[in-house]
Amino acid sequence: MERELILSRKRIVSRIKELAREISSDYTGKKTVFIGILNGAVFFFADLVREVTIPTEIDFMRAASYGSGMSSSGTVRFTKDVEIPIKDKHLILVEDIVDTGLTLTQIVRNLEERGPQSIKICALIDKPERREVEVPIDYCGFQIREGFLIGYGLDFNEQYRSLPDIYALKQ
Ligand code: PRP
Repeated sequence: MERELILSRKRIVSRIKELAREISSDYTGKKTVFIGILNGAVFFFADLVREVTIPTEIDFMRAASYGSGMSSSGTVRFTKDVEIPIKDKHLILVEDIVDTGLTLTQIVRNLEERGPQSIKICALIDKPERREVEVPIDYCGFQIREGFLIGYGLDFNEQYRSLPDIYALKQ
């Protein structure tokens, strides 16, 4: 399939450095846990946490929406949970993309019940055009409107995740 370059690896890396600086400064002296939402956030998460200068714990969750292809069905099931204690800690959820917002809304609701000190969201890409529920993105890498995005963790039917840059698929 044809594709168009949307975000080069260079641009992504430089934006991640800025986000990491901002987060490090906001959370100085606080007990933090960075939680990566698998699988899409894997590269963003790895690049981000290694730029963060404060000590932190890391863990992962996996929320899979049913179905595959170009639209998310809106139903989320958790197939992997965090394993380290999160009570009274400051959580930073790391997502690759926020589209309808349904995934993050359900994750936040679920984590809130476990008594963390705070929950904030860091997303590499905000895709506001298809939003169904409002999600506060506290740290946003890029706002992108057009196209179905692949690469740097983002997939189409599980393909293209390992591309180092982000592209829009042309249909
Ligand atoms: C993608 C992405 C987000 C979610 C965003 O995950 O990583 O978790 O969809 O969509 P939403 O805002 O409409 O809920 P997906 O379920 O495709 O799994 P993946 O991370 O393994 O690609």
